[in-house]
Amino acid sequence: MVDHLLYYLLAVSAFFSIGIFATIFYFAIRYRRRSESELPAPIHGALSLEILWSVIPFGLAMIMFVWGASVYFTISRPPDDAQQIYVVAKQWMWKLQHMEGQREINELHIPVGQAVKLTMTSEDVIHSFFVPAFRTKADVLPGRYTTTWFKPTTPGKYHLFCAEYCGTKHSGMIGWIYVMEPQDYQAWLSGGASGSLASSGEKLFQDLACANCHHLNDQGRCPNLRGVFGSQVQLSDGSQVKADEEYLRESILNPSAKIVAGFQPIMPTFQGQVTEEGVLQLVEYIKSLTPTGAPPASGTATPGQRSAPRRRGTAPANAGTEPSKR
Ligand code: CUA
Repeated sequence: MVDHLLYYLLAVSAFFSIGIFATIFYFAIRYRRRSESELPAPIHGALSLEILWSVIPFGLAMIMFVWGASVYFTISRPPDDAQQIYVVAKQWMWKLQHMEGQREINELHIPVGQAVKLTMTSEDVIHSFFVPAFRTKADVLPGRYTTTWFKPTTPGKYHLFCAEYCGTKHSGMIGWIYVMEPQDYQAWLSGGASGSLASSGEKLFQDLACANCHHLNDQGRCPNLRGVFGSQVQLSDGSQVKADEEYLRESILNPSAKIVAGFQPIMPTFQGQVTEEGVLQLVEYIKSLTPTGAPPASGTATPGQRSAPRRRGTAPANAGTEPSKR
């Protein structure tokens, strides 16, 4: 997709560059001044010519726009069946985590023919995840999650680069993507994992004593986390927010940024107490907490609000105002 768009851009550019320069040379010779006394004939414009050279480039540029936008939308929307991989970048290495618990450094093993979604963040500065063979390049930013996806079609070993200058050893921040046949990948997966990402997150959840306040029912002092992922959360300022990875991360590291309606801002920040990888494990654990028939509590994020857009009518009158804390 990316290649075809690039070929089109190159073809248009080459056609006009060659055409314009060839015309310049031809006119320079054809209409050169032949004697000292020669005067050029006056020109009175040509409407049809004006329209022609406005409409054609407009059409060509609109093709670029529509085509480019469609490629962009495809790249920004991972397919639903994509396999999730978490990426944490730091000076100067790539740390990759599989859902099943495998952790890799500067290497990523994935099966062929399977879409892979990357959720990425950085511990320090801006990096960029660049796999030229997959036509994939996405910035990796500290303090937030970015996503990208690709679908490898041929088994093999592919270069991974950092494509954003990030300090002394930026050029050494490289790795390999191993695209494997599905059975090889299964064999690789079965080797040495210390529990899934979600179970590591559960352990962390216990270690950090999150469960003291976040009971997995509606009896705790803090919101029930069951089914919260993907739901619309009603905030105390009247606005609503979709509970995605970014929201969960912010709620762990900067809990006072968005207070769930009906709760007090009593949660301390866990900034500095949990690594980015740990946050991802917690996020994955919270995502795994599917609703299990817990009775919904009014006003807070509940399993029933998973199909949130249709419940908009239940929001307070001022819920239409956009969240201002972004
Ligand atoms: Cu990381 Cu350049």
